Amino acid sequence: EPSPDRPFTAAVITLSDRASRGEYEDKSGPAVREVLEKAGYHVVEQIILPDGKEKLKAELIRLTEQRQVNVIFTTGGTGFSVRDLTPEATKEVSEREVPGIGEALRAYSMQFTTHAILSRQTAGIRKKTLIVNLPGSPKACREDLDFLLSPLKHGLGILR
Ligand code: MTE
Repeated sequence: EPSPDRPFTAAVITLSDRASRGEYEDKSGPAVREVLEKAGYHVVEQIILPDGKEKLKAELIRLTEQRQVNVIFTTGGTGFSVRDLTPEATKEVSEREVPGIGEALRAYSMQFTTHAILSRQTAGIRKKTLIVNLPGSPKACREDLDFLLSPLKHGLGILR
């Protein structure tokens, strides 16, 4: 369990072509960071990447192998668009899948929007890091984290 002197460390990765080109202000990454910090997490990196798989996989591997953060939250790229490959990148770098997180978030989110089924979000473990996909909107991120942060504490305590 986290304690004030040993908080869980987190990284936040926004997947967005437009935000990565500076054409659009990323509001989701900062929203995730704010919620995490309020919950006592130490957010050590915040990154914006274009949609797609390869750059994201490289960052996920760097953050798990070198930075060894406890948890990585991605936001965006979980939908049906052809460049929405965040779940695929997550699966490809994960040693163990955590299917229950995506299942539970979709079910929980149905109360907000039936479009929740359009998110192919998933989660997985690589070494001692949990990777969790969130949808791209700040609203979705806040809704999902409201549900997730409590059970996550237990899981991250086991993984650490
Ligand atoms: N989940 C929650 N909690 N709230 C939302 O508003 N939006 C849905 C879904 N999941 C949503 C949600 C919609 S409209 C889409 S298109 C999918 O997330 C995929 O979003 P992404 O492509 O931005 O990842």
